Amino acid sequence: MNPIYERHSRYINPGFVKLLDTLGFARTFVRARGAELTDERGDVYLDFMAAFGAVPLGYNHPALVAEIARSLADEAPSFLHVAPNPEAGLLAEALASRIAPLTVAFFCNSGAEAVEGALKLAYAATRRARVLYCAGAYHGLTLGALSVMGAERFRAPFPSLPGCEAVPWGALDGVEERLRTKKYAAFIVEPVLIEGGVRMPPPGWLAELAALCKRTGTLLVLDEVQTGIGRTGTLFAFQREGVAPDAIAYAKALSGGLVPIGGFSTTPEWHARAFPRAEDHGLHSSTFGGGTLACAVARKTLALVDDALLERVRDDGEHLGARLRRLQLESPLVEEARGVGLIWGVQLAPPTRGWRTALTLGLPNALSSRLLAHWVAVRLLERGFVTETCVHDETVLRVEPPLDVGRAAIDRFVDALGETLRENERFGAFVKGAGARLIERALKRGAP
Ligand SMILES: Cc1ncc(COP(=O)(O)O)c(C=O)c1O
Repeated sequence: MNPIYERHSRYINPGFVKLLDTLGFARTFVRARGAELTDERGDVYLDFMAAFGAVPLGYNHPALVAEIARSLADEAPSFLHVAPNPEAGLLAEALASRIAPLTVAFFCNSGAEAVEGALKLAYAATRRARVLYCAGAYHGLTLGALSVMGAERFRAPFPSLPGCEAVPWGALDGVEERLRTKKYAAFIVEPVLIEGGVRMPPPGWLAELAALCKRTGTLLVLDEVQTGIGRTGTLFAFQREGVAPDAIAYAKALSGGLVPIGGFSTTPEWHARAFPRAEDHGLHSSTFGGGTLACAVARKTLALVDDALLERVRDDGEHLGARLRRLQLESPLVEEARGVGLIWGVQLAPPTRGWRTALTLGLPNALSSRLLAHWVAVRLLERGFVTETCVHDETVLRVEPPLDVGRAAIDRFVDALGETLRENERFGAFVKGAGARLIERALKRGAP
């Protein structure tokens, strides 16, 4: 095994290494610039995953790298905590100017922390003990965020916070009855269910939820960790939906994929209700949150995600969507292509041509759709494109390039996806391709 993989397997995460190796996904990437990744052999790949959306402007964007150099050259203090950090204030002000009335921000270091912070705000502001969340949601893996994670597989080995209840995504079943009890601090929801398979909210659903929350004094918390900073064609997805949340959580793309940052924003009213006294100021804080470097890079990123770029995301997103929908008409393997801006999901269905083979092998459809989606990702990698399936719905291939990837790259990606699908249309060909690879890998692993 290559020493980088061996070291990772020995000292960090053996399961991850095994999984990468299973179908032949394993590569070592040594350079990244814009939407291009280069591996150790010098092969170049176009990135259509953007680190789960954390790389909005491509890798190592020169203006962001220069901002990091400037910030470090300034020798300003970071993580001081005995005085306000000027960069944090400037970032909060820049955000406030684009998402008013959510003008009060709290900064931390990750999406899960952002979600935890927003939930703590809701608990403290309402003094209620319950929270509603959606089945299929992804909110992060720390214990609080995990308690509102819409996938049993992730929650099962761990205890959950009491009072967290799941309701179906995109529906109102059971929501009003529950909220009317006024026992719920928050309804937390992603404006686009990304890891649950890139599912769009039904028209008017979020607005209805916002109205119900308002009537019952419940905070509507939107998890914009992956939809935020331009991904859907507006700075945040709630602006596209025309709803007024009480708080939003963000992270990932905010600092251009270079320095960890997360945070939540709320109204001054909710903030004052949660933390009314001076001595409450430290009830929620983080040593590294709101650091100088992260805030400086985040402010620069925000400036680069301007109206012109957002318009480009909407235009390029329409182009991408139209091309993926055409693929849906052309390919029997595409059940549905759905999305908005530059976040799309391609729901795959198992090959039906040669379906008798599938029955003979007894492969259930869901399993073969999952295997197909992973296999398509591997074949795309071999054609020079990086992508993966959604985390909770592995039958859906994600299409999530950097926001400035451009139409030529989009066309190349969709062409390669079309080719990959065509080569797997017959069940026999798919099983032969993926099956042979699995056997080859297993034999290799078994070899001395
Ligand atoms: C919608 C959403 N919320 C929260 C998170 C958690 O973010 P992090 O991995 O930075 O903790 C993610 C991560 O994928 C996410 O997609």
